[in-house]
Amino acid sequence: MGTASARLRQWHIEGADGRRCTITAGRGIASHQSLIPTDSSRIAVLTQPSVADRVKRMIAELEQATGAVAELRVLPDGDAAKELAVVGETYGWLNAIDFTRDGLLVGIGGGALTDVAGFVAATYLRGVEVVYMPTTLLGAVDAAIGGKTGINVDGKNLVGAFRHPLRIVVDLDLLDALPLELRREGAAETVKAGFIADERIIAAYEADGIDTALDDVVPAAIEVKVETVTEDFREGGRRAILNYGHTIGHAIEVAAGIAHGDAVSIGMVAAGRVSAEVLGFQGEGRQRAVLERIGLPTVAPAVNPDEVMNLMARDKKRDRDGLRMILLRDFGDPVVQHVSAENIHLGLREIGVAGS
Ligand SMILES: NC(=O)c1ccc[n+]([C@@H]2O[C@H](COP(=O)([O-])OP(=O)(O)OC[C@H]3O[C@@H](n4cnc5c(N)ncnc54)[C@H](O)[C@@H]3O)[C@@H](O)[C@H]2O)c1
Ligand SMILES: [Zn+2]
Repeated sequence: MGTASARLRQWHIEGADGRRCTITAGRGIASHQSLIPTDSSRIAVLTQPSVADRVKRMIAELEQATGAVAELRVLPDGDAAKELAVVGETYGWLNAIDFTRDGLLVGIGGGALTDVAGFVAATYLRGVEVVYMPTTLLGAVDAAIGGKTGINVDGKNLVGAFRHPLRIVVDLDLLDALPLELRREGAAETVKAGFIADERIIAAYEADGIDTALDDVVPAAIEVKVETVTEDFREGGRRAILNYGHTIGHAIEVAAGIAHGDAVSIGMVAAGRVSAEVLGFQGEGRQRAVLERIGLPTVAPAVNPDEVMNLMARDKKRDRDGLRMILLRDFGDPVVQHVSAENIHLGLREIGVAGS
């Protein structure tokens, strides 16, 4: 993908409700300047413990530079923030600080934080504007983009709303500083975007593995997500291609209790095998090699095959005719297809799920 560039990139998504979402990616842009609202009377910032100190500095700078006052609330870390009780407390807090419909909510954190900030924004006063500043790679290329918000009630993301934020600010400097595990987690979704839609992302990871400069791969992966969700906001058709590796991957994630990115990597290996069998996909070896180069797993931990099959049977992508998977005819050429139990077993055997 050529040399790294510090260029500012921008995209726009028109929401089904006529609202417009602007995504900006670049370096050094997670500053107080991107918090400045156009005409909102109040700024309320939701964040999480891991980035709270940085966010406090940003707010102090904002207040000094503009005289604007921003209120801050630190939610629990990770998915502990996506609880109904936390949402309820946050509504109460917004009410207590007199946050009105012309206020601006800001969510700064990983995918869990932007999911809950988006849900609060979609529902409080029947909808207020929100800005996301994703601080994880997965958040930047995946969770923040596309207008899906959600919280966990019994099941993961069981309750949610479709609503795009006003702005998404992706600061690559912030993502460079992430610990290895979070970079790997995000790399799985980034290279997935490569497999389904942009071979340049694959080539970049082939060259430098997990150390691949983010300047090109992150904007490229954002572009894949933007284009896909623009075509299909509510996942009726094309948006489903973003689930490549997720049908089997998600079942492995739950059964083995492993990280989402690792599970997606394993799921893509299985989907690659099924793709080769059903559609004559030639890229299995290349796919596996680049995942290994990144340091992602390609074999599942010991799991109960029956449990994996049961989990998949409950997959939302199942319909009357059986299980649907995203398969590749070639890199950049995904198809949504019904898959026989026999072919699923083939995929499971490929990732070492014994007895399947
Ligand atoms: N809405 C969507 O379309 C969508 C898509 C994919 C995933 N998601 C959701 O995203 C969540 C996963 O996102 P995630 O992987 O970002 O996990 P996360 O939000 O749980 O964050 C992972 C960990 O990283 C820490 N962290 C965040 N920023 C950091 C930083 N800059 N430096 C150091 N540590 C930092 C967090 O404190 C947390 O412990 C899940 O809840 C998932 O459901 C949503
Ligand atoms: Zn995913």
